[in-house]
Amino acid sequence: MSKHDPYLKYFHNYQEVYLRQEGFFDPIAEVLVNYLEVNRQISILDVGCGHGDFLSAFHNILGSKASYFGITIAQHEIDHMVATYPFINPILGNQQTLAKLIDNQTFDLVINFHTLSYLRQKDQLSVVNQMLNILAPRGLLLLSLIDHWTKFSSTIFQAGEGYIQFPYNPLIYPTVEKCSTKLYSKTTKPDGYRVILYRKAQNQIPVKAIFKVITFVIINNLCHLHFFKKVARRIVRGLPGGN
Ligand SMILES: C[S@@+](CC[C@H](N)C(=O)[O-])C[C@H]1O[C@@H](n2cnc3c(N)ncnc32)[C@H](O)[C@@H]1O
Repeated sequence: MSKHDPYLKYFHNYQEVYLRQEGFFDPIAEVLVNYLEVNRQISILDVGCGHGDFLSAFHNILGSKASYFGITIAQHEIDHMVATYPFINPILGNQQTLAKLIDNQTFDLVINFHTLSYLRQKDQLSVVNQMLNILAPRGLLLLSLIDHWTKFSSTIFQAGEGYIQFPYNPLIYPTVEKCSTKLYSKTTKPDGYRVILYRKAQNQIPVKAIFKVITFVIINNLCHLHFFKKVARRIVRGLPGGN
């Protein structure tokens, strides 16, 4: 029996009362808001939003210029948000079914702050892909992972009253970076969360691929031309009077 076994019941049934010190998110939101293009109403989604404090930090700066959505699997956090932050649209559900929970909506900023670790490694990648898919064009993805938690391992990283957590899958980084640009990366002190902001790349025209295809077509045609010229020459040579 593992020391974590008593807590397995909390997998998909998070019950922890996880409170951050007041104002924890304020300096982070103050920096990150500069990367948002707020020339129209924007939308922000926090996946694993806890008690809504990160969304509240953005609300303090952006007010009604943004709409705010928070997903959590914990009913007690939903109750707290409804009572404390009426501007947050609370969504009760599992991040693994993110695409279904948000019903075809897209977002200008999607946040996942220390929440992927509540899933097994392979499921973390599925959520990362779902988050990328629900970003608006030029949308931002904000991830926060802890460096020394980032390693290949299927074993539980830590567990306690109300929660169970796994290490972060190192493949999260290449999964995100294949279709986005890193804008910002900083580690918070003294707690050591790496906060990384990515901008989804616009649907780029695959210039290299198009160039390769055109080159192939030209060379292929030239080869055929050369081949047919050779055949024609041989035929002409074979005709009466040919030499
Ligand atoms: C450690 S707290 C982090 C809260 C907040 N992001 C922060 O950094 O303060 C983890 C959050 O993830 C949520 N959570 C845990 N497992 C989840 C799951 N499978 N789907 C959705 N939310 C989940 C919890 O309800 C909680 O809000």
